[in-house]
Amino acid sequence: MKTIIEPFRIKMTERIKLNTKEERIELLKKANYNVFLLDAEECPIDLLTDSGTGAMSSEQWAALMLGDESYSGSKSWKRFYKVVNEITSMPFIYPTHQGRAAEGIMAEALLKEGDVIPNNSHFDTTRANIEYKKAKAINLLYENAYDTESSDLFKGNINLDALEELIKKEGVEKIPFCMITLTNNTGGGQPVSMENIRSLKSILNKYKIPLIIDCCRFAENSYFIKKNEKGYENKTLMEIAQETFSYADGATMSAKKDGLANIGGFLVTRNEEWAEKFKNLLIMREGFPTYGGLSGRDLETIAVGLKEALEFEYQSYRNATMKYLAKSLEEYGIPHIKPVGGHAVFLDAKKFLPNIPSSKYPGISLVNAIYIEGGVRTVELGSVMFGKVLANGEEVPSNLELVRLAIPRRVYTQSHFDYLIEVLKVVYDNREKLDGYKISYQPKFLRHFTCHFEKL
Ligand code: F0G
Repeated sequence: MKTIIEPFRIKMTERIKLNTKEERIELLKKANYNVFLLDAEECPIDLLTDSGTGAMSSEQWAALMLGDESYSGSKSWKRFYKVVNEITSMPFIYPTHQGRAAEGIMAEALLKEGDVIPNNSHFDTTRANIEYKKAKAINLLYENAYDTESSDLFKGNINLDALEELIKKEGVEKIPFCMITLTNNTGGGQPVSMENIRSLKSILNKYKIPLIIDCCRFAENSYFIKKNEKGYENKTLMEIAQETFSYADGATMSAKKDGLANIGGFLVTRNEEWAEKFKNLLIMREGFPTYGGLSGRDLETIAVGLKEALEFEYQSYRNATMKYLAKSLEEYGIPHIKPVGGHAVFLDAKKFLPNIPSSKYPGISLVNAIYIEGGVRTVELGSVMFGKVLANGEEVPSNLELVRLAIPRRVYTQSHFDYLIEVLKVVYDNREKLDGYKISYQPKFLRHFTCHFEKL
């Protein structure tokens, strides 16, 4: 059969409250035109993030009941350890309450002022944790990553030439480790090839620089490798994941993505010296090493979720969802990043709204129009999230102005997607009527979460 069906059936439902366009206009105004400040129940379809928003399986719910809440050495910890160790082969494993806690501990333990951390693209919390230590977070992508029309298959690859140049320019002693993010969330959820990871490792070996993987979506990345990289057709997703981690000295994970859990994360390493530092910080900030930032119940659901994320049928269904969305966008000529990423479709707001310059935040204009039209909450990944505000107040815009439609795992059905496509078509047909925005309030860090906008 050509049709790929959801490899699950629905056992429990959650009511969606519907609202009208008039109500949404008022709600958005009250939220200062920042969709992060809307009540979730006012967003009938919520594509703000794929993080922690997935549906757990019956096996996960069953595992949750087995949660052993002992302070030290619980059965849940042992099950969690076994799975994380099987996938990553790392002996030192620290559960954290989510990904950014793992990043925070990594940054605190390993960074000093003036250090430089290369990555294909740093996620915003990773960047914030690095910059908080007065170190520099550098993104290194190939040119094709900035070309939303390029249908190259591994646009998440780290630019190896640029990396060597950076190492030579900055000096090895300034680079305590290099990172790679799988998949590259901020660059469109694009995957990284095994060849790129392998070559990265061999360059880093030459300079004795360790590699840390931001592995939030490692299972989706493994699926892309299996589908699109020669030599991996017949490998299981588990085998591909295992090879991926074999090149790393450590990893940070948000289990809210490919852990298929609603909360959780971990920090892992095979470096004993790092492990000692991580452990001490973990105890101070998160908890005793065998539960870290999590309850026994969380450890159980993550242990099951990580395995489910590596099931081929699950990833095939997930990818089919993305492709279904992309096909409709393509047919209607709605500009988006090609090919579709693993966890989200990214609209190209620059091309969607060519009359609105970066300084007037076209991404915000598009996000708000989509909400008003259909009650669909999306998120800007453009100059508000990634633009740099200089000391003199001047803003350096982001390379890309994107709007992300992040797809929660196992949550929405095909009719939700058909509705979404209809909403996008209406917004696209009326795009010339849209205006830009200005920021009327912003905090110092991670401004996109809480800043206020005014319509221009
Ligand atoms: N790294 C990447 C690549 C991420 O996408 C995220 C979170 C994190 C780290 C941090 O993990 O949220 O558990 O602390 N991304 C979410 C998103 C928030 O919407 O893309 P966290």
